[in-house]
Amino acid sequence: MNILLIGSGGREHALAWSLADSPLTNRLVIAPGNPGMEAYGEMLPIAADDLDGLCTLAGDISADLVVIGPELPLVEGLADRLAELHITVFGPSAAAAMLEGSKEFARAFCARHNVPQPAFYPVSDCESAGKFIDQLGGYCVIKADGLAAGKGVVVADDAKTAKAAAKSMLGGQFGDAGKRIIIEQRISGPEASLFALLDGENAILMATAQDHKRANDNDQGPNTGGMGAISPSPSLDKTLEDQVMAEIVNPVVRGMAAEDTPYRGVLYVGLMLTKNGPQVIEFNCRLGDPEAQAILPRLKTDIVSAMMATATASLHHFDMRWDQRPAVTVVMANKGYPGNYEKGGVIRNLEVAEQTDDCYVFHAGTARANNGDLIAVGGRVLAVTALGDDTASARKNAYEVVTKIDWDNNFYRSDIAKT
Ligand code: GLY
Repeated sequence: MNILLIGSGGREHALAWSLADSPLTNRLVIAPGNPGMEAYGEMLPIAADDLDGLCTLAGDISADLVVIGPELPLVEGLADRLAELHITVFGPSAAAAMLEGSKEFARAFCARHNVPQPAFYPVSDCESAGKFIDQLGGYCVIKADGLAAGKGVVVADDAKTAKAAAKSMLGGQFGDAGKRIIIEQRISGPEASLFALLDGENAILMATAQDHKRANDNDQGPNTGGMGAISPSPSLDKTLEDQVMAEIVNPVVRGMAAEDTPYRGVLYVGLMLTKNGPQVIEFNCRLGDPEAQAILPRLKTDIVSAMMATATASLHHFDMRWDQRPAVTVVMANKGYPGNYEKGGVIRNLEVAEQTDDCYVFHAGTARANNGDLIAVGGRVLAVTALGDDTASARKNAYEVVTKIDWDNNFYRSDIAKT
């Protein structure tokens, strides 16, 4: 098959590695890709938000399957455009991707379909925001309605912080994404993520994971896109997985079908495991980053078959097999991330991962300098994943590789998957 993969982050490197490994893949084209993916296919410099360019490319290479990694092209309707060209796509339509594209849509949808979630209040002015913030005693979560690159959420302990966040979002901090905001009740419990494949009619469990969002050890410092992950999630056992499938994922697949917006693709369910049971914190319409880098090395089933079954409404008899060992992913970031950071630091000794069993280095913010050196140009730069017989050995293997990578300006958390 001719496969087109769209995206350029660590998640897409993990996807490229998996897709290249499939016996069904004849030709893999990646747009725009990153230097870590050079070995897996042809890379073309077409950006993930250039919908016209990507549709032309998919036609030019007679793509049998297009895999869309990031949320932006999904929310902007790339899957719909490709479907109009009769090209098979792994990723939901724009209408279905609204589960990530609009927090208000997702909350209202859950309310219509009795999916467990915290109380929420959508507003578009400071006065209404203040009223609901006071009603919740200031202990609440403020979210921008639209996509804000993972930055549009403020968890407030008091009314002053909550009102300042609401004012700033409504005042244009995130542009149109914050024209409407949601004030949510704060809930508590361990966080976990569950990934399911939905084919429009049926859903199957894919895998679970746990992300580490704060920049520094002990969950201190600013929120990031994710500084590390473990899969499976230590907080979700089989009973809880079944409960999440029954109470959340199955109502979503049925509800989206009933509303004429069938969901086809991977659904990322961000959960809080409260004492009243699992509740939805958020939905995403794609794999997580860095969760994908922990999940995909555990996948034993052919990924192209799983994606084709998802895209063609054939999941009802599909079964996914997994390496039962845990995988731990440690993100190496540029010093200063998620704020300002210097670009251009030279990275050496990545070969170290090849000398370690079941260890992988996925690139995110890397580029090639004119002289061929690999340099760090993004915030999150590398994701190092290792499997192990237990969590402690997976951690040990991952950190052993991290410490051998030669790059001056990096930082990473030292407590990923620490128990
Ligand atoms: N790691 C969080 C996300 O992918 O949204």
